This record gives sequence, structure tokens and C-alpha cells, in this order.
Amino acid sequence: MATLNHNYEKLPGSYLFSTVGKKVRKYETEHPGAKVIRLGIGDVTQPIAPEIITALHKAVDEMGREESFRGYAPDLGYGFLRETIAEKDYRDHGCKVSADEIFVSDGAKGDCGNIQEIFGTDNVIAVQDPVYPVYVDSNVMAGRTGKYDAVRQMFEGVVYMPCTRENGFLPELPKEDPDLIYLCFPNNPTGAAMKKEQLQKWVDYAVSHKAVILFDAAYEAYIREPGVPHSIYECEGAKECAIEFRSFSKTAGFTGLRLGFTVVPKELRTEGVSVRDLWARRHGTKYNGAPYIIQRAGEAVYSESGQKQIRDQISWYMGNAGIISEGLKKAGYEVSGGVNAPYIWMKTPGDMTSWEFFDYLLEKANVVGTPGSGFGPHGEHYFRLTAFGNRENTIEAISRIQAL
Ligand code: MLT
Repeated sequence: MATLNHNYEKLPGSYLFSTVGKKVRKYETEHPGAKVIRLGIGDVTQPIAPEIITALHKAVDEMGREESFRGYAPDLGYGFLRETIAEKDYRDHGCKVSADEIFVSDGAKGDCGNIQEIFGTDNVIAVQDPVYPVYVDSNVMAGRTGKYDAVRQMFEGVVYMPCTRENGFLPELPKEDPDLIYLCFPNNPTGAAMKKEQLQKWVDYAVSHKAVILFDAAYEAYIREPGVPHSIYECEGAKECAIEFRSFSKTAGFTGLRLGFTVVPKELRTEGVSVRDLWARRHGTKYNGAPYIIQRAGEAVYSESGQKQIRDQISWYMGNAGIISEGLKKAGYEVSGGVNAPYIWMKTPGDMTSWEFFDYLLEKANVVGTPGSGFGPHGEHYFRLTAFGNRENTIEAISRIQAL
């Protein structure tokens, strides 16, 4: 008789963004005339940059000619892309990362969710609270947590590291002794960023405690301030204790194209075994490589004009972030984030819970955001807006909120 993985039954409700989507669609069905503006899920709205489109066309044409047709991609990624990433994202910035430490995939979400598979189920995980739900949910599915405590809104057996207004939304080093530490900087959802000296303390902690840091750097392209590291490998000793995830989604608008990569350094050993080799084994077994045409598009991101075009796009989104932050502050809201990240983290007014504010904003202003409590208990009474909308809608959304 087939049985189920009952760990799935510990997960409350559906995935956060599906819940938000369902609620909005229901509202739209019931209010057909409403002009709803979506600043909820962090999905890009600007078209793919011209240099990348040219590379896509060229690669598509290659696939249509016998002499340049490509079948299965190398499962760890094409050499041309891995080499380019190692050079432009790392070596040019003083980080010694080589092409064979880079694993190309169809995006950071999958990698962040899958990485836990190569670690023992007895590992204790630590997460920032609020947190991107994928880190916790994937560990719940793998049986690495106890049951869900609906009152505290926490899974038993997980170390939650509060990120609050008081600590500037930066977690403190845990007193418990976690084995796997998920860090996301610039942070989703709070938009907070860590300075290099602060991140160095985490690297030192992980080295001395033999823990592994799973560092999600999906939003590094949005960093504006000096002193904020773009990669954890800027910190001394990080290659012995950290895995880094990167994504083309928010950097170059690939949420629909799908491309990302994970860096697993050769120096990282757990129980004397190379973690890199285990991830290579896992990747090679379960994945047949990102599509050739998408990897060529990824390569074009690093060309001179590709870089200029995506930087302009990112600055444009950050213009939206400024409009949202300033507009909300003028309306009297307490706001953070939006400086090194495309997310604005706002305190809900009065005593409203995050979901009460979600309903209020949807009904009274027809604006959609993401309830902070969906990211964890310390997200309660907070709300996230994204800078990824188009300009007109962003301005309109903020003036509707101001008018409330
Ligand atoms: C978000 O809104 O947090 C992101 O779009 C989620 C993701 O990147 O998967």
C-alpha cells in the first residue's frame, strides 16, 4: 500500500503567494469593475533588455540548424556561462570562485528548496523571522522539523531569529547551536542589508560552530550603499562554511525565463566530505541542465551593453522604491527597506494585523501587498510592498493609500 509523506500535512494552508493570489482573484470576481494594483509578489514588469533578446534570437536560430543544434545541456551548466559568472560576479570583485564551483539551474527558489536534501535530517535549521517561506517549508517537507504550533505560528525544532525594528531587522547570533543557517541579504521581505563587518561575524560563528550558512543573495544587484557585501565570499573564511544562491530573476527580469546558480566551494567539507561533490551528484541525478537558449541569454547579461541595460532597469525599479517609501512616510507610515532592496517593509497602522491591513487595502484602495505575518511571527503587524510594479501603477497605488 502506498503511503504519503505525512510531513506535508504539517504545513499550514497553501504557499503564501498562492493564498494572496486566491484572495485577490476572489475579490476581482466579486467586484468586476475594480482596478486592482498588484504590489504583492515580487514579480518584474519591465521587458527583457534588448541585448538579451538579441542573444535569445541568435540561440534560437542556432537550434534550428543541424551544425549548431544542441541536445541535453551539461547538467551543471555550460562552460561559457559558468566561466563568465566566475569571472564577472566573483573574480572581478576579489572573490576566488572558480567555474567548477558554480552550478547553473532554473532559478534560486528551486536551489534554496533543494539544497537541504544533501544534509542530514537531524540538522537543526535557523532562519530569520520574518523569512522567505521556501526555506522553512522545504525543511518541513523533508521531516527536519516538529509540528506546527498554530498559536506561536512556528514549527517546533526550528530556530527562529527575530528581525525587528529594535535590531534594525538584522538577526543576532543564535544562542542555540543550529547546523544550517539561512541568511538572505539584501533581505526578502524586510529589505534590510548587512554591512561586511556584520556578515563577517556570521562567517566566524559558522566556522567555529561547524555550521553551514545558506546565503541567498538573489537581490544583490539592488545594493546601493557602499560597505554592503554583494557576495558572502567577500568575507574571510566564507568558502569553508557558506553556500551562495544567485538569481537572474530580479537582476535581469528572468522570472519567466528561469535561470539562477548556486556556488558550492570546494573548501566546504562536512564530516570530512566535500559538500560540492554531493551537490554535483544531486544536480546530475535530478536535473538535466537549464536550456541552452536561456543560458546564452544569461551570458548576454554580462556583456557591456547587457550590463548597462540591466543597471538602468534596476535603477528604474529603485525609483519606484523611492516613490513608495517617500509617499508612505508622507502619509505617516513607519517604513524601512527600499534602499538596497526592491522591497518596502511598512508597519501596519494602529493595531491592525497584517491580514486585516491586507483586506483593508484591497477593499478600500484596491492595492495588493503581502501580509508580513505570512513570512513568520515577527512579520505580524507589518506589510510588504514591492518596487516591481510599473511606474504609473506605483504612483497611483501610493496616492490611493495616501487618500485613505
Ligand atoms: C517574493 O515575492 O518574495 C518573490 O517573488 C518570491 C520568489 O522570488 O520566489
